[in-house]
This record gives sequence, C-alpha cells and structure tokens, in this order.
Amino acid sequence: MTAPRDAAPLTVFDRFERSLRDLRISVTDRCNFRCPYCMPREAFGPDFQFLPREEILSFEEITRIARVFASLGVRKLRLTGGEPLLRNDLPKLVEMLASIDGIDLALTTNASLLASQARALARAGLKRVTVSLDSLDDEVFRAMNDVDVPVARVLEGIAAAERAGLAPVKINAVVRRGVNDHTLVDLARHFKGSGHIVRFIEFMDVGTTNGWRLDEVVAASALIERIDAELPLVPLDPNYDGEVARRWAYADGEGEIGLITSVTEPFCATCTRARISADGRLYTCLFAVEGVELRDRMRAGASDDELAATMRAVWEQREDRYSELRSEATSDLPRVEMSYIGG
Ligand code: GTP
Ligand code: 5AD
Ligand code: SF4
Ligand code: SF4
Repeated sequence: MTAPRDAAPLTVFDRFERSLRDLRISVTDRCNFRCPYCMPREAFGPDFQFLPREEILSFEEITRIARVFASLGVRKLRLTGGEPLLRNDLPKLVEMLASIDGIDLALTTNASLLASQARALARAGLKRVTVSLDSLDDEVFRAMNDVDVPVARVLEGIAAAERAGLAPVKINAVVRRGVNDHTLVDLARHFKGSGHIVRFIEFMDVGTTNGWRLDEVVAASALIERIDAELPLVPLDPNYDGEVARRWAYADGEGEIGLITSVTEPFCATCTRARISADGRLYTCLFAVEGVELRDRMRAGASDDELAATMRAVWEQREDRYSELRSEATSDLPRVEMSYIGG
C-alpha cells in the first residue's frame, strides 16, 4: 500500500487515543553480552534455544513491514536486538530502511562491535546510535555485561560512531541500587560537554528471568538529586509530546541528560510505540505476553493492504498500560523477554 507522496500522514489511534508513531524492530534475539538484568546466564546458557535462521525475518521482510507501518503513520524506526550488530550484513538492511521516505532511523547497540561497523552503517544511511553503557568503572561494567568486556571497547565504539557522524550518541545506563548507582555521577561527568546524551533507565521488571525487585530501583528523582549536587541541573521541556526520557540540562550549558522513569513515573499515557520481534510478531507493549504473527501472513502471500489492515486493527484495539498498573502481583505475570522483543 503506497500512500500518495503529498497525502497528509495517516494517524491510527488506539483505545486511549494514542497514535502509532514509533516502531522498534528486533533483528536478532542473540547477544554476546549476558547482562543479568536482561539475559542472565542461568536462563540464557549454552542450551538456550535461540530462534533458528529460517524463523528470523529476512531483510526484505523487515523492510516491507517498516514500509507498511510508515504508510500507517510511523515516523521513527529503531533497530534493536538482542545485539543488532551480530546480524550479518546489517548495513545492507540499514540502506534498505533508509530509503523509506520520512523515517528517522537509529540503532540501539552494546557497541562491542561498533568500532569496525560504524563507518559502513553511517554510509548506509544510519543517522544515530544509542549505546548501552552501565558504568565507566571497569570492574562494575565487566560484572554488568557478565562476559568480561572492558569499558575501553565500548568507548572505542562510541569514538568510532562520533568519527562516522553518528551523533549525538545517546548512552543508556540501567540503574541498579548497590550495583552501579555509586558510579553514575562519574558517567554523567565523563560525557558532560561531549555533545552526547546520557540517559539513566530505572531497572524494569521486563521478562521473567532477571529477578527484579522494587528495592533495587533507584528513583530517577533521587538520582537527579545526587547528580545535581555535583553537576548542577535545570529541567528542560520535552523535544516532542510523548518523549520517553525526561530531560535535564547542565546549568553551565554543557549539554543534557535524560531519565527514563518507567517505574516511578510511568509514561504509558503517551506511549506511541509498537515492537516487532526477530521472528516477525507484533507487540504493542514491552510487557506483553502474546504478539500478533506477521511473518507467516507475509510468507503465505498477504498483500500490503492486508498487512496494513492487520496492523491497524491490532493498534486500534490496543489497551496496554502495564507500567501504570505495575504492582507486586503484576511482576509475576508471564511476559516475553526483552532480548526477544527488543528494548
Ligand atoms: P530516541 O531517544 O528517540 O533516539 O530513541 P531511543 O531508542 O534511543 O530511546 P527511547 O527513548 O525510545 O528508549 C530508551 C529506552 O527506554 C529503551 O531502550 C527502553 O529501555 C526504555 N523504553 C523505551 N520505550 C519504552 C516503553 O514503551 N516502555 C518502557 N517501559 N520502557 C521503554
Ligand atoms: N530494565 C531497564 N532497562 C533495560 N534494558 C535491558 N533490560 C532492562 C531492564 N530490565 C536496557 C538496555 C538497553 C535498552 C535497550 O534497554 O540496557 O540500553
Ligand atoms: Fe545484550 Fe543489551 Fe540485553 Fe545486555 S541489555 S544482554 S547488551 S541485549
Ligand atoms: Fe508503552 Fe507498555 Fe511501556 Fe506503558 S509499559 S510505556 S504501554 S510499552
């Protein structure tokens, strides 16, 4: 279904009047890290069955899904994983996606393989990357990735991204009380004045394997107080309605940071994000149990119009607002893993 070029962008609304604007596509369920908050090695050990090759969407299938979503009003596309840079020939996919009109395209990566791929990704049309980096303290970071990757490797990846023009880089740090929270002012300080934007993410109860406990969550407000005491901050307005991160600027003008407050201040009311798993299921919430199958429909010959009708119907029925309903009881409910559905 190709909309005429000058047509007003279509908007599809869910049951709470939230439009469909963002699509996060997981290109692989595999990762070379074993961050205990995401893929703890007890659950994702040598016997874990990752998706077999034939179940994973091809680049053509991913591009088709993205194009049909764009015709329904999606403007922002994020490639996620697992670790997306493990997918062979990723620049080729970027090139295919970059050719879709009016799409803002970026990639979320652990950056361990970014140094060698940044140039090719930028040349293929990627605009930005978001890099996960939970601490600059080498011992803390090695424990948090649980595969002994040093901080230096990630910093090399970030430097390569910068040289390739994939900037500003956003740096995501998941905050866990007693694990890395004592190192976060240093993380902020390191990137202050660099043009890059550090975002601190409250530890979330995504998936069912990470042993999440509320007492490990450091409230964003408390973290802001700690940073502000050393590096004075002033609040900033959102760049646009529904922006996930709350923004704070350094009072001296040397850049900004963001706080992603999924636990203490949920942002479901403005959530415009759909997600596609590596095997082509459509999920309308990070905490969903079931997705709607798109891959087999495509492989059985569905037309673009039929695909669009399915996507639209799913979105129009959407009622998700998990983070607003979160309680001790909801944390035990079944749900998909974040490495499968994409951050
Ligand atoms: P831009 O900042 O727009 O470039 O996109 P981004 O993908 O870099 O970051 P975004 O702000 O969309 O998301 C950052 C992180 O916030 C994600 O990696 C998740 O960890 C978390 N997050 C994003 N969307 C959601 C959501 O819908 N629900 C919850 N609970 N967490 C989310
Ligand atoms: N809580 C918060 N953030 C998480 N991420 C992965 N698992 C969790 C969790 N349990 C983050 C990653 C990455 C982004 C995609 O989501 O560190 O930066
Ligand atoms: Fe891999 Fe990212 Fe999950 Fe860590 S958070 S295990 S880097 S997908
Ligand atoms: Fe969106 Fe679900 Fe996250 Fe709420 S919990 S912001 S509905 S993805």
